[in-house]
Amino acid sequence: MTAPIDPTTTSAWAELQQHKAGLKPDLRAWFAADPGRAGRFSLDAADLHVDLSKNLITDDILASLVRLGEQTGVAERFAQMLAGVHINTTEDRAVLHTALRRPADAQPRLVVDGQDVDHDVHEVLGRMRAFAERVRSGQWRGITGERVTHVVNIGIGGSDLGPVMVYEALKPAATTGTGAAGIEARFISNIDPTDLAQTTAGLDPATTLFVVASKTFTTLETLTNARLARDWLWAGLQASGAIDDTDEARKDAVSHHFVAVSTALDKVAEFGIDPANAFGFWDWVGGRYSVDSAIGLSLEVALGPDAFEELLAGFHAMDVHTASTPLARNVPMLMGLLNVWYTNFLGAQTHAVLPYAQLLHRFPAYLQQLTMESNGKSVRWDGSPVATDTGEVFWGEPGTNGQHAFYQLIHQGTRLIPADFIGFVNPAYPLKDGDRDVHGLFLANFLAQTKALAFGKTAEEVEAEGTTGPLVAARTFSGNRPTTSIFAPALTPRVLGELIALYEHITFTQGTVWGINSFDQWGVELGKQLALQIAPAIEGDAAAVAEQDPSTQALLEYYRAHREERDPRR
Ligand code: F6P
Repeated sequence: MTAPIDPTTTSAWAELQQHKAGLKPDLRAWFAADPGRAGRFSLDAADLHVDLSKNLITDDILASLVRLGEQTGVAERFAQMLAGVHINTTEDRAVLHTALRRPADAQPRLVVDGQDVDHDVHEVLGRMRAFAERVRSGQWRGITGERVTHVVNIGIGGSDLGPVMVYEALKPAATTGTGAAGIEARFISNIDPTDLAQTTAGLDPATTLFVVASKTFTTLETLTNARLARDWLWAGLQASGAIDDTDEARKDAVSHHFVAVSTALDKVAEFGIDPANAFGFWDWVGGRYSVDSAIGLSLEVALGPDAFEELLAGFHAMDVHTASTPLARNVPMLMGLLNVWYTNFLGAQTHAVLPYAQLLHRFPAYLQQLTMESNGKSVRWDGSPVATDTGEVFWGEPGTNGQHAFYQLIHQGTRLIPADFIGFVNPAYPLKDGDRDVHGLFLANFLAQTKALAFGKTAEEVEAEGTTGPLVAARTFSGNRPTTSIFAPALTPRVLGELIALYEHITFTQGTVWGINSFDQWGVELGKQLALQIAPAIEGDAAAVAEQDPSTQALLEYYRAHREERDPRR
């Protein structure tokens, strides 16, 4: 890998500093003086229509941002990523999540480090499709001969957030219409035993299929939950008389009710899952970039292979846009560069993502791992310190719920919070309130919020409504609060794939400008190690307690004093 470019040394950075120094944001005046602004700053990427015009940019600022992208080599590094260069320097790995969605007949073939990536990807996709079809058609049966009614994914981080988010987003397709197979997906992630207890509540072990999803197959939470689920299965099947308590019967139960997804197939076998029921992927797929790998197996089972493959096609469409569109019209790259503008020049520390789609209620949580695990770094890919602030905090909730919770701060607080609004023209459920289309009313809120944030309300306008005195200031809105509006015709699997890939490549663009490796996550390791050291202290091991700091010791004391022994199933 070439050394990262310090973005602060580029001429584009100096230009942007000058723009910042002279910036007097005035979206009202900018729109009034420039009838072409909305059209010029609106772009299409695959099925997504993206309006950047309510951002705090002028043509000159955008031109400088484009130059920053050029001078930091964003497009070149994107091409390197697609080609399999080891841009994940700290782990010496290629970064090839884009290969997971290449069509089977893509040319030229992608061969990386001697591996025919296209062949391997499609071999696993074929196995996933065949497996999902067997489960959905009822050919695959549980140990009592019954059909599977519930698929339960056990995983955490990237092995959970993507599958949960996509399942929630596309659930109407799973439960209604031709794609429906009557299989519900559930998800267990947290090592808090409440998660497993509540998620398995009401399930029949005889009709439940577990997918243990873990890239490394070493993750404490996932393996603990997988063992608990296995115990739950055995106990339930024994209680109903379906199996006896011999090892052979238990093994047979696991082979009918457990499959696994991992890059570590040897560890899957050690857990007792038949390698024939294991689906692999590769170390060049980061956890937070893995929903489109075999990690999506629970989605294929619940939503159907056609929906999953349409999702992949959507990802690929955004990859093609990103790889082939000049920077000045390249939607993910421009959105990434805008985030750099807000973070490094205008002092934004957070970024809101506000889906106007209840079905996307887990999208902000998904994006938190994607963006913050990727770009929450203080050193560059060569180990040197970063020259600027890096990853901002991403957060959000679906509209309109957020409007009645935290929008006050976005409208009138002291902080700059760029926000992405995401909406779909056609609803999943076209309900009417009398004659009124409720989805239309919903989207009117989307448009109203972005308008209010951009254009505000002046003191004169407030006074013209009859308000006087100190109330005028309280009812005044400054405006000039930046938003990006993302519209698509409908939340289909394809559009969802495009949306996810859009944010993957926004994240990539920011990481490249900052010179950081967006594909490792060393920052989560220390806590994992310490949890293993503290576990014996929780159990009361005096030597382990003595090793802890005074605060931790005091908390352990509180824990021991208040912990009651009771039946965990009570
Ligand atoms: O939180 C760290 C992390 O390594 C994530 O990057 C990953 O998605 C998650 O743990 C789960 O890891 P695995 O899929 O290996 O169980």
